[in-house]
Amino acid sequence: MNSIRIMLAAMSAEDRKMISGLLTDEALRVVSTFRPDGDGLKKASSQPADVLLIGTRMMPDQELDFAERIFTTRSDITILLIAPALDSRTLARAMECGIARVIDLDSSERDICTHIMTAASRDLNRRNCTQKIASYDSKVIVCYAPKGGVGKTTLAVNLAYALASLSKKIALIDLSLQFGEVGVFLDIPKGDTIADMVEEHSFELSTIKSYLIRHQSGIQVMLSSSSPEYAELIRPEHVDAILSSLRTEFDYIVVDMGVSLGDCAIAAMETADTILLVVNEDIASLHDAKRSIKVLEALNQQDKIKIVVNKDGISSITVKNVANLLEATPALVIPYDLKSAMLAVNRGIPLLSCAPNAKATKEIRNFARSLIRRA
Ligand SMILES: Nc1ncnc2c1ncn2[C@@H]1O[C@H](COP(=O)(O)OP(=O)(O)O)[C@@H](O)[C@H]1O
Ligand SMILES: [Mg+2]
Repeated sequence: MNSIRIMLAAMSAEDRKMISGLLTDEALRVVSTFRPDGDGLKKASSQPADVLLIGTRMMPDQELDFAERIFTTRSDITILLIAPALDSRTLARAMECGIARVIDLDSSERDICTHIMTAASRDLNRRNCTQKIASYDSKVIVCYAPKGGVGKTTLAVNLAYALASLSKKIALIDLSLQFGEVGVFLDIPKGDTIADMVEEHSFELSTIKSYLIRHQSGIQVMLSSSSPEYAELIRPEHVDAILSSLRTEFDYIVVDMGVSLGDCAIAAMETADTILLVVNEDIASLHDAKRSIKVLEALNQQDKIKIVVNKDGISSITVKNVANLLEATPALVIPYDLKSAMLAVNRGIPLLSCAPNAKATKEIRNFARSLIRRA
């Protein structure tokens, strides 16, 4: 793992020592320390580094002037400020001065290290991939339902498979963090998981990619944690870092979710371009879907939602009823096909591959085509 080289600027030697002491992660390496003044400016202008970390225990003032001067001359580094909680005016000024992220001095050592690593790797990826981002139009598609058993994993796996068969470069991320089943659906034996990745504390694209497992279809899969207790290792900033890094490399990132609308799920939805909200034609599923739409509205994510009706025909509730109740026309309707769905899961093969002529297969294929046409 490449270490992140940090220039540390703070007024007093005591502050420099205190802040250095917080950078306990071995991936972080302080390469020089100085005061944010004229001499410091000369050092900061020429020192090879990835991050300029400016610290203060007071309200920043001279520190922000310093950041602004460096920002105009060094586009190759990420400038971060570590300070006590700031009022909104100072925060706005910090952003204007080119500070990429303000880290609260009262955060835990672990959080401080994670913030620095996430911000630095993000910028590094962005600088390395400016060309690619300009030409790539990567999309993050999240498959969500607040209820288990409705078909999130079936949809995520098969949509990823359909897009991969249309020659798109696909990452499939299992964010059903406690009981992820993507590995079962694709017959992937135990391997590295998202929890192992997070424990490495590096969010560079190359590290993230080394945790993807290649399925024979070409889909690159990130498995969910191997046991439910590891789920809590994964935090929203990790989800953010993983998805934004992968965007630079993949055409589509399909995310399978669990039922929770916790912080990690929200982070994924906020990053997503599309949220496929999967429902079945039963009252409980529709009721839960309606409630999650309200939550997503409160988070201002409602424009990304597309309704997917799965297991159509399973009850007397019709697609029209669903549309009326959820006040939206479903973007995809997948028929109930127990035989094909079971065969697929039991064999660990996508439905699209083991039942190529099934109506469910055709609907998912057409939907994948329509996504590409619209992109
Ligand atoms: N269209 C369908 N017709 C019949 N069974 C289906 C269909 N879609 C999914 N299933 C089955 O329903 C069960 C739950 O699906 P799954 O994708 O695991 O749901 P979730 O991820 O929402 O918990 C699985 O056994 C799956 O094979
Ligand atoms: Mg699932």
